[in-house]
Amino acid sequence: MPRPLQLLITLTGFCFSVFCAAELPRIVSENGKHALFVDGSPYLILGAQANNSSNYPAALKDVWPTINSIHANTLEINVAWEQIEPTEGTFDFSYLDTLIKEARQHNVKLVLLWFATWKNNAPHYAPAWVKLNNERFPRVITENGKQLNSLSPIHASTLEADKKAFAALMTHLKKIDKKHTVIMVQVQNEPGTYGAARDYSKSANTLFNSEVPTQLRSAMHLPAGNWPDLFGADASEFFHAYHIARYCNEVAAAGKAVYPIPMNVNVALRNPFNPGKPGAYASGGATDNVLAIWQAAAPAIDMISPDIYFRDYATATKVIELYSGPSNPLFVAEIGNDQPYARYFFSALGAQAIGFAPFGMDTTGYSNFPLGAKTYDSSTFAPFAEIYRLMKPLEHKWAELSFTKDVWGVAEPTDTHQQNLDLGLWDAEVSYGRPMFWTDPPQGNTPPSGGALIAKLDDNEFLVTALRARVTFTSSSEIATKPYMLVRVEEGYFDKRGKWVFERVWNGDQTDWGLNFDDKPHLLKVKLSTY
Ligand code: DGJ
Repeated sequence: MPRPLQLLITLTGFCFSVFCAAELPRIVSENGKHALFVDGSPYLILGAQANNSSNYPAALKDVWPTINSIHANTLEINVAWEQIEPTEGTFDFSYLDTLIKEARQHNVKLVLLWFATWKNNAPHYAPAWVKLNNERFPRVITENGKQLNSLSPIHASTLEADKKAFAALMTHLKKIDKKHTVIMVQVQNEPGTYGAARDYSKSANTLFNSEVPTQLRSAMHLPAGNWPDLFGADASEFFHAYHIARYCNEVAAAGKAVYPIPMNVNVALRNPFNPGKPGAYASGGATDNVLAIWQAAAPAIDMISPDIYFRDYATATKVIELYSGPSNPLFVAEIGNDQPYARYFFSALGAQAIGFAPFGMDTTGYSNFPLGAKTYDSSTFAPFAEIYRLMKPLEHKWAELSFTKDVWGVAEPTDTHQQNLDLGLWDAEVSYGRPMFWTDPPQGNTPPSGGALIAKLDDNEFLVTALRARVTFTSSSEIATKPYMLVRVEEGYFDKRGKWVFERVWNGDQTDWGLNFDDKPHLLKVKLSTY
């Protein structure tokens, strides 16, 4: 039996009551699938993240033009602990007030990034009264007794101070954001520690040699024992991961106790094929080897979100695989803003992503090359703009289909120019870099930039869109003995109520050699049959 909520979405395709607009944003998970509900309907984050120091009213004028020009519907932007609580106990939310007002003027939703105890391992964004007080807020100590610029997660004094500030932020947000312009909050930024696997201070060593907490042991079905007993060579990293996860959980829970909207944590990834040692990557962050620890220790965190700065197809798609699935809604919280990364949008949506956000998307004058693009202008942002333009008329419908139906998404690979998808009764072949007419073999686009999305509407009907790709439907082995055909290929779009609007039928040249997509937006409904 469909649940009432699902029925509502299915029947109307769209929630238009005043009641829906009052609903808090939330993550809904059903049958191993996830959706981010915003204003009562599934929402796809066509996101973009601003640069690190764009979190002041004066900088926002260099943020909105990029967000608007790439057709993003959501801006990810930081709120720093140092700016809201410069003096302990005295809060200033003027930046937040301006940000929300301007976001509404630009018709853009927000994901706030809480830069506090950790910003890429360090407390750079914590107020001076925190980062200059080692005694009250101790840093991580290495095995050799060296002090690192990364706060230790084991001290209640640090946690309590961060929690208080975060709860104050959420209290203010609840008061001023009745329209739910802010749809999610990221707790910390890339938490973890570079330079050591864990804190080796005296108090940390005592904890390390004590019992592993029951919560973790029961989640992982482990007997009693201390960290070295239970985890051997991994003990130091797992210990640090558990304590950072628990810390982030408490911060999130304190915020949710006031105002329960979705919260995520982002990850400075380790290379899944060549991980290296903890400390060389951010130890204790939610890297792929400690996801189970994070999930057990941080139930208040709704999702763990990868920051993808691997340009190559194999690694980027492996990360998408590792951070998606029934136990984790995929949200690509950051991805490099250079051309090669843009097409991974299609792979992410194929893994049922609730959103995607290239990093550094403003014109405040900074380039994080070689992670991202070398220069920042409209041509840099064009590969993202064309994908968001393609998705704009489809954003609500895709979010709904992704939650309720089977969906597929592929990005153009580099080692082959063709991919085969098993769609049930039918198969699809997606190929790249070939003329639209005739059967010349695919040569790939130069540079690789294609991608395709398919959603199954019913057994014999599919919704298809793509960029620089040919999509060819064939019968699967189940019905291979019978001849088959494209019965009708309609081009159209979904209106604001989620109703299909027919524009024209593709036939003749437009279907004889597969469905050929160029760089313009085309959305097709494809009906197949045997005869
Ligand atoms: C990942 C971090 O999360 C971002 O804030 C930023 O520092 C990039 N790395 C590098 O530009």
